[in-house]
Amino acid sequence: MSLPPGPNGFAALQLLRWIRDPFGLLEECQARFGDSFTLTLPSPASPFVIVASPEAVKDVLALDGEVAHAGKANVVLRPLLGEHSVILLDGSEHARQRKMMLPAFHGDRLAAYGRTMTELAHAVIDRLPVGEPFPIVRSMRAITLQVIVRTVFGLEAGRRFSELTDVLSRAIDAAAQPMLLLPFMQRDLGPLSPWGRFLRYGAKASEILRGEIRRGRAQGTAGRTDVLAMLLEARDEAGEPMTEDEVHDELVTLLVAGHETTATALAWALRWIWVDPPLVERLRTDIAGSGGDPASIAKLDLLDRTVREALRLQPVVPLIGRVLQRRTKIGDIEIGAGRVVACAIYLVHRRPSLYPDPDRFRPDRFVTFKPASWEWLPFGGGLRRCIGAAFAILEMKMVLAALLPRVTAHLAKLSIHPVRRGITLTPSGGLPVVITARRSREAGSPRAA
Ligand code: HEM
Repeated sequence: MSLPPGPNGFAALQLLRWIRDPFGLLEECQARFGDSFTLTLPSPASPFVIVASPEAVKDVLALDGEVAHAGKANVVLRPLLGEHSVILLDGSEHARQRKMMLPAFHGDRLAAYGRTMTELAHAVIDRLPVGEPFPIVRSMRAITLQVIVRTVFGLEAGRRFSELTDVLSRAIDAAAQPMLLLPFMQRDLGPLSPWGRFLRYGAKASEILRGEIRRGRAQGTAGRTDVLAMLLEARDEAGEPMTEDEVHDELVTLLVAGHETTATALAWALRWIWVDPPLVERLRTDIAGSGGDPASIAKLDLLDRTVREALRLQPVVPLIGRVLQRRTKIGDIEIGAGRVVACAIYLVHRRPSLYPDPDRFRPDRFVTFKPASWEWLPFGGGLRRCIGAAFAILEMKMVLAALLPRVTAHLAKLSIHPVRRGITLTPSGGLPVVITARRSREAGSPRAA
C-alpha cells in the first residue's frame, strides 16, 4: 500500500530539519502535499504518515488500544524512561499501568497541590533578578522541577530535596541535547561525553528515587498526599502492587513528561502575555479579585483562556504517533498495518478555518469558540491523553497568578523562535526578559530597579 507523498532527499537531511525547525518543516509539507504526507523522523518507528485535518485526527484519537499502539511510536524515549514506563506500553499492560496511576491525578488530589505550586512559585519569584536580562525559562524550570519533587516524589524541603533537585536538573540538562534522541548518539564515551553524563547523573537520580520507594514501603504511606504514596498503595485487578522497577520507571516518566513540558508552556505563555499590557492588566484585576485562593484562581475565565491559547499557539509537543496494528482508514486515506500515523497538533492549531488569524495570540477567541477534543489537543487525546493535563493547566495558572501581579517585565529580545530541547520546543535564548519592578508577596508598592 503506497504512502502519501512527502519530501524527497536523504532521510538524514529531513531528520536534521526536523530537529532544527519542525514547525517550518510541517508547514512546508502541508503547503506542498496537503493535509496528509509522509516524513522520515528520528525514530526506529519511522516513516511517519502525518495527518493534519481535524477529521483525520478525530479518526486517530478514536482508535482503540488494540488497533493503535502509542507505546511503539514512542520507542525513542525508552533509554530515558525505562521499559516499564506507561508511555512505552501498549494494550492490556498500558491499561493496567495507566489505571493505577490515574487516581493520583484526580480533581480532589490536584486541589491539594495548588497551594504547594503557589508557595514554590513565590519562593522562586522572590529571587528573580531585577533590572538585568535573564532567561526566564530557567526560573520556570526551577519551579516545575520543585513542584514534581514535592507533589510527585513527596519530598519536603531539606537535604534530600535539594540533593534530588540538583541531580535531576543535571541529568535533565545532560539529556536535553536533541541529538541524543538518535540511537547512534547514545554511546557512553566517558563522563564528559553527553550520553556518559546523562547515564551518570541518571544513575545517581535513580539511586535516590529507589531509596524513596523503599522508604515509603518500609515506613508506610499513611497521611501522605503525594503521587509516589498513591503509586505504592495502588493495586491492579488481581490485587497486586507495582514492582519497584515499575514505580521507579513511572516516577522518571512523570518527571520527564511533566517538568520540562510545563516549564516550556509557561515560558511561551509569558512570551505572548508580556507583549500585551492590556491583557496583563485584565489578568491582574481578575487575579486580585479572586482573593488568592487556588480554587478560585483555577476558575478564572480569562486566565483559563490565556493558558489554552498559549498551548494552542505554541504546542510543546508538535506530534503524537500511533503504530497501526491493522490496515485502517484515517480520514480519506487507507494506511497499512505496521505504519505509524501521527497527528500534527501544530498544524491543527494553526488552521485558519478553526482559528481565524491563527498566528495571533488572542485568548478571547475561546469566548465564542469551544473546540472539540480533536481541534485543540496540546495534550494528545483518546486513550493516551496526557495523564497530567489537569495538573499542568493548574500549575500554569498558579504560577501565572503568582508572577503577573508581582512583577513588571518586558522581553529583552522581541524576535523569539522555537528551539529544540530534548522532546520539547522551547523559546530561543530561554526567553530573555527584564524585570523592571517586583512587588513583595503581600502586594506592597512596586520596588523599581
Ligand atoms: C504543558 C504540559 C504538558 C504537555 C504539553 C503534555 C503533553 C503530552 C502529550 C502530547 C502526551 C501524549 C498524548 C498522546 O499520545 O495522545 C502526553 C502524555 C503523557 N503525559 Fe503529558 N504533557 C504535559 C504535562 C504533563 C504532566 C505535568 C505530567 C505528570 C506529572 C504528564 C504526564 C504524562 C504521561 C504519564 C503521559 C503518558 C500517557 C499514556 O501514554 O497513557 N504530562 N503528554
